[in-house]
Amino acid sequence: MKIIATAMTVSTLIFGQAALSQDVDAGKKVFKKCKACHKIGEGAKNSTGPVLTNVVGRTAGTYEGYKYSKTLKAAKEAGLVWDTDNLASYIENPKNYMKALLNNKKAKPKMSFKLKDAQKRADVVAYVASFSQPMEAEMPATQTVVKSDVMAPTGGICVQNASRSAYFFVAEGENGVRVTKQLEPNEVLCTPEIPNGTKGSVSVFETEDHFEGCTRLVKANTVEQMMRYSEFDRCLWTSNAG
Ligand code: HEC
Repeated sequence: MKIIATAMTVSTLIFGQAALSQDVDAGKKVFKKCKACHKIGEGAKNSTGPVLTNVVGRTAGTYEGYKYSKTLKAAKEAGLVWDTDNLASYIENPKNYMKALLNNKKAKPKMSFKLKDAQKRADVVAYVASFSQPMEAEMPATQTVVKSDVMAPTGGICVQNASRSAYFFVAEGENGVRVTKQLEPNEVLCTPEIPNGTKGSVSVFETEDHFEGCTRLVKANTVEQMMRYSEFDRCLWTSNAG
């Protein structure tokens, strides 16, 4: 049965979900500990720590008006963007996390608080993330263009649903960048730009948890169109139409 990785597996990787379940309500309780130093939600102001509203998807060390440590400024220079995974690692042990990230034994973030319990971390991160923009924060890579005449705008791997029904699509570059989305007819899904001259692949599945869809190898900067769906790799694509 295992023909290729299922679409489910792919999306689980994309969303970066830890194996632990995440409970926003439980996270609210855990957040009481953070509240000693952090405010979150509408009207929140900086206190001992910076405001955490919209922190998922934000570059580290950039909340306006907060005086960050040298360490957080260095993390910002290093391009650290908070997501649910690195947030969980950071709150486990901010100092160790920053030491490893910056490869600097002297790294010393101002946050001394540590949260050892993995389940509590997962929960509190889910709670914090619920105050951030959903999806975009986790998947800055996805770009969908709802116009059929837009051809390969991004230098990435693109796939268009040129059939008459909605299907679940995956586009990925050989450099590992990968995006997934349920596409309505005519919608296009692209990865971000991939290195010149490299390739990738596009796949389609009947639904997100179907197995035997179709996959085509494609070049960057073209839009592969899926014209007719038929499982077990019998779909009709632009590149096998003629
Ligand atoms: C004792 C005070 C304190 C507690 C408790 C605390 N923090 Fe912090 N936190 C800080 C300080 C101070 C900073 C700024 C770090 C720096 O500049 O080095 C910070 C920074 C952060 C950042 C980086 C924000 C940014 O803008 O880059 C995140 C994320 C964060 N804390 C999350 C949490 C979470 C989640 C909890 C609860 C599990 C928590 N903190 C508990 C004091 C605290």
